[in-house]
Amino acid sequence: MSKTSRENWNNVAEIREKSAALWNGRAYELKPGAKEKYLRYYNEKCASSKAITTKAKEIIPGGVQHNLALNYPFPLAMDRASGAYLWDIDGNRYIDFLQAGGPTILGSNYPTVRDKVIALIQEKGPVTGLFSEYEYKLAMLVQKHMPSIEMFRMAASGTEADMIAIRLARAFTGNKKIIKIGGAYHGWSDELVYDIRADGTRSSYAIGIPPECYAHTQALSVNDLEGLRALMTENKEKGGTACVLLEPLGPESGTRPVEFDFCQQVRKLCDEFGALLIFDEVVTGFRIGMGGAQEFFGVKPDLTVFGKILTGGYPASGAVGGRKDVVSLLAGGVGGKDNKVMVGGTLTANPLSCLAGYYTIQELETTNAAEKAALAADRLTAGLEELIELHKLPFVAYNQFSIVHLDTTGNVNVTITRENMSDVFAKMPRRTKLFNEAGMGMSAEGIITIAASRMYTSLADTDDVIDDALKRFDRLFDNYQLS
Ligand SMILES: Cc1ncc(COP(=O)(O)O)c(C=O)c1O
Repeated sequence: MSKTSRENWNNVAEIREKSAALWNGRAYELKPGAKEKYLRYYNEKCASSKAITTKAKEIIPGGVQHNLALNYPFPLAMDRASGAYLWDIDGNRYIDFLQAGGPTILGSNYPTVRDKVIALIQEKGPVTGLFSEYEYKLAMLVQKHMPSIEMFRMAASGTEADMIAIRLARAFTGNKKIIKIGGAYHGWSDELVYDIRADGTRSSYAIGIPPECYAHTQALSVNDLEGLRALMTENKEKGGTACVLLEPLGPESGTRPVEFDFCQQVRKLCDEFGALLIFDEVVTGFRIGMGGAQEFFGVKPDLTVFGKILTGGYPASGAVGGRKDVVSLLAGGVGGKDNKVMVGGTLTANPLSCLAGYYTIQELETTNAAEKAALAADRLTAGLEELIELHKLPFVAYNQFSIVHLDTTGNVNVTITRENMSDVFAKMPRRTKLFNEAGMGMSAEGIITIAASRMYTSLADTDDVIDDALKRFDRLFDNYQLS
């Protein structure tokens, strides 16, 4: 059994305390010799990546099209992915704890799903614009595992699905305000970039978005139930609360974890104030178990948002599901109800995405992938904790199911408030430099992570893969010194 359980939930206070100590204490950095060694790795062993990503900067802003691919000192160009491994175009092999940002719980390029996709393409191509049986089969399979999904509608991405969910909440309740929790990432739409990624940053990332667009978006820190009650009370007079939207493990895939009963308490407040509760299960749906976070926490959201995992990493992946009286407002076609909510998308719910999703979820079920990936994450986390102690470093490691968090600089978890904002921003550039160097060290040791701080394990992560990764972390941590 995986270590993460209702009885053994993260010690949130301890994580917060250790993270604060890491941020407030003197930083640890790579020894100069190690920095040179890792830079040499990049320049000598990854020359083809350097050449193509340098050229790409002329046509692609910043050289890459996704933050996940941002790497210091330059992005690595990947050539091949299989199971637990990635290979770059220079032929270097990496242990893949990015897993495409989370969707491939079965491991990369899982053969059973791939073969079905190839057969579909050979038979009818990826898209027809008309109904396909897999739309129905996928919806039914999701409902089988998550009974709160009385109705289900696909979208092309998690960003779109979040947009649909908040629009539905407003249409159904007639209320305006949407409340998001803890700097969570709910995609990049005009309304949801507010307070994005880092708690307390408010409109910092809202460049190019008129303030009117996010005038009704409100943000609160995670676990602040008193603040939530106060805000919902205040909202009663100002257009009412349409919904509370949250990542159920805590913002940014549990980087700032929830107290175990947080979601339950938010459910109660939503009921009291007539707001909808929306679970963004883009990362947690099917990853922490077939029933998602809603099953784990025993909370029934009104709406659930799905993303990348839904199709196992095949494109056009997203959906909103939930209460029939709410989701039925999305009925397609011209005419019908007056309060019908407009959504669309030419490539949405295409046969390829739906078939890939259907077989992915079936395989997740038959292989018990979520549990196996969680056990791999337990092993990785236990090993990291031992190494942190062995090397006497102040780093923080913990996991929730198959999501492993590792903080080496303290800036991953810092809460920004009006009071500490100038201090945090003054310190951030130096910490960001160290953070980038940590990422460089991990890649040069043959481990790809999400932003040097988060790792998704998969079914492909055998004990050997994890033990190999730990040897590499051992070498990396051995290269640290007090700065
Ligand atoms: C919790 C959460 N919601 C929404 C999104 C946005 O999904 P997408 O990248 O498919 O637009 C993400 C993406 O990482 C996410 O982690």
